[in-house]
Amino acid sequence: MKFGFFDDVRKEYVITTPKTPLPWINYLGSQDFFGLISNTGGGYCFYKDAKLLRLTRYRYNNCPMDLGGRYYYIKDGDTVWNPGWMPVKTELDSYECRHGLGYSVFTSSKNGLQAVLTAFVPVSDTCEIHRLKLTNQSDAPKNIDLFSFIEFCLWNAQDDMSNFQRNFSTGEVEVIGSTIYHKTEYRERRNHYAVYSVNKPIEGFDTIRDSFLGFYNSFDDPDVVREGKSKNSVAHGWQPIGSHHLKAELAPGKSEEFIFVLGYCENPRDQKFEAPNVINKKPANELLAKYQTSEQAQAALDELHAYWDKLLSTYNVNTADEKLNRLVNVWNQYQCMVTFNMSRSASFYESGLGRGMGFRDSCQDLLGFVHLIPERARERIIDIANTQFEDGSTYHQYQPLTKKGNADIGGGFNDDPLWLVACTYAYICETGDFSILDEPCAFDSDFSKAVPLMDHLRRSFNYTATHLGPHGLPLIGRADWNDCLNLNCFSEEPGESFQTFGPSEGPVAESVFIAGMFVKYGKQYAELCQAQGLEDETADVLGKVDQMIKVVEDAGWDGEWFVRAYDAFSNPIGSKVCEEGQIYIEPQGMCVMAGIGVEDGKAAKALKSVEEKLDSKFGIVLLQPAYTKYHVEIGEITSYPPGYKENAGIFCHNNPWIVCAETELGHGDRAFDVFRKTCPVYLEEISEVHRTEPYVYCQMVAGKDAPTFGEGKNSWLTGTAAWTFTAISQYILGIQPTLKGLGINPCIPSGWNGYTLDRVYRGVTYHITIDNAAGAQKGVACLTVDGVAVPGCVIPAEMVAGKQEVAVVVTMG
Ligand code: GLC
Ligand code: GLC
Repeated sequence: MKFGFFDDVRKEYVITTPKTPLPWINYLGSQDFFGLISNTGGGYCFYKDAKLLRLTRYRYNNCPMDLGGRYYYIKDGDTVWNPGWMPVKTELDSYECRHGLGYSVFTSSKNGLQAVLTAFVPVSDTCEIHRLKLTNQSDAPKNIDLFSFIEFCLWNAQDDMSNFQRNFSTGEVEVIGSTIYHKTEYRERRNHYAVYSVNKPIEGFDTIRDSFLGFYNSFDDPDVVREGKSKNSVAHGWQPIGSHHLKAELAPGKSEEFIFVLGYCENPRDQKFEAPNVINKKPANELLAKYQTSEQAQAALDELHAYWDKLLSTYNVNTADEKLNRLVNVWNQYQCMVTFNMSRSASFYESGLGRGMGFRDSCQDLLGFVHLIPERARERIIDIANTQFEDGSTYHQYQPLTKKGNADIGGGFNDDPLWLVACTYAYICETGDFSILDEPCAFDSDFSKAVPLMDHLRRSFNYTATHLGPHGLPLIGRADWNDCLNLNCFSEEPGESFQTFGPSEGPVAESVFIAGMFVKYGKQYAELCQAQGLEDETADVLGKVDQMIKVVEDAGWDGEWFVRAYDAFSNPIGSKVCEEGQIYIEPQGMCVMAGIGVEDGKAAKALKSVEEKLDSKFGIVLLQPAYTKYHVEIGEITSYPPGYKENAGIFCHNNPWIVCAETELGHGDRAFDVFRKTCPVYLEEISEVHRTEPYVYCQMVAGKDAPTFGEGKNSWLTGTAAWTFTAISQYILGIQPTLKGLGINPCIPSGWNGYTLDRVYRGVTYHITIDNAAGAQKGVACLTVDGVAVPGCVIPAEMVAGKQEVAVVVTMG
């Protein structure tokens, strides 16, 4: 069943019923100010940090699930309704929610009145704009009462939901004209406040939640709305809110538009007040002056559209499959940008209170957006590197505001260091900017110890090279990519963190997955050494890589597939000798991507085993057989019921590794088949099963062992976005940035005749035509650039130097 449709021309997903299986959300904001907005208007906004500077309150995991948002109550005679249906839930005569790139539009009607609510964050201001247009479509005049409503968060979202003995006494507001200023804690250490304003004179206002709602009411039946009159309440403590009362007298066919601004304002510390305890309103006045008219609001919206059009012009494909086109050209890249902005902080599954920026998460996310925003990617790499330790190990997470490592979780996740090589290499392949390797980067944020980024990469590589276990495989530490494979943890007490309990150093558990990474990213590091003229180091690195390949072929090979790991007693994990968890997906994907076993058939065997043992109609499950009981020596992965999360769920992040691996062997049909299974745009028709948004990937789909097989969870903030984009854009469609120039080497279904693609790369637009009349799955028979034949698959950067655009024709065969 579908709950909407794609509008490809406008790059929107159009939701046609408010009753989606889960809140289907969108993100507003592109620089410092962000909002989450669901298809019923739920969600919240924040400035820079979802935990520390949250403007509006949201109740996670509530009943109903999605409660709290930007609510506009329309009172038309005795009927009260909302443009987004919630919270009053009056049956609407029509409803539509269009989630677009950085904005959402709700269009609904009731009893001959139409409401169009457009919500967005301007490209360069710290506010949400809510444009609400009411149109009388009936043939009788209407007198409408309109009430706005948002609930302020007392800034620190954690404290806001727990420290009631204090914060029931701190709330403060000012109200001047049509503007409500939320200034809790401004009297002391904060120099910022929130504004909520509308561009028309108001009839009244409220800022006390209980006055507006009535103490025993919920959001669906506020006293003030029922009575049709504000109480002009001024908050002192308790729960400050913002509500305006407006009137619209609408003759038949007439419209009126209101522009609401919900924004963040900051003052220099010495200019906080204009009078004792009266806030300095200068930044608010400046902000509000920009959004007084419909023309101003429209100009800001146009600027937002232009911003996205420009970003998405970098990679644009035209295949015969319109679903694939919309995924690649719009939604997958959009999701990659959202992971850039949010990391894993704020979604409807991530509460915005917990994890900051994951080290490995941020490095991998970069693979998905580096082509869109290379300058910001560069800054991100340097921020990440600044948190590394001198021995090459890393913090597992860092805070976006302070950019410092999180001491509470610490380090010891032994895959982390190598991801720094992966993202730096990807950045240089995209941009050709080797100068980043000379950038001085700190250790543990201590800039007195800064050394060039190249030396950080060296330490990443050497850390892994020098932390090997009994088989010569890399030590796993607290965990590798799979945070839930905690082989040195041995936790027996509920509540102990699997991630931080137990020793991180000393134990001997080893990871074949990290060995695969060491080979893949070791080769990339060697290329960087070579490009810098470091001949001896190149040879040394490649020697160590070769040695690791031998170790994997020996201790890491189980006969039909790659072993996953060795536990603290040196027993294998992910081997046929295991009772449960005999085969895991991750080492198959990573080792084959690294090229291990490609020549002697091990790689093909491993992928065949994946197909036979792990595949399902909704994607490849993480392992089989699922763990049915808790194994203290294996950790959190065995804590989940079979089929969920890392215990044999379909973890979408690692499915693209198999896609990439299949293309290494030239299996275009199989690669695309695997790609399709987890791809949301192909699941739109079964949204009642999949449940999460059909326009973005989720982290996990319940596996075949689960009672809810096929059900997605945890959409939006997942490394899946970057890896699926890498898999489709580079490995299937075959557009591969390399150190030397743009590589083109597709691996596609044999049934595809070909496709065209525009790619902006290092300032040159490549108009690419792929011709597959031969019905091949892989292989470049001929490549020409502006009619000139190029040997191999890489177009040397020098060849196109100085040109703005070139025409490339690739004949497969
Ligand atoms: C989550 C984490 C990621 C980890 C994965 C597997 O997606 O953000 O860092 O690799 O789970 O455990
Ligand atoms: C939990 C999640 C896992 C995630 C980890 C991050 O263990 O199950 O997916 O990677 O938390 O800390």
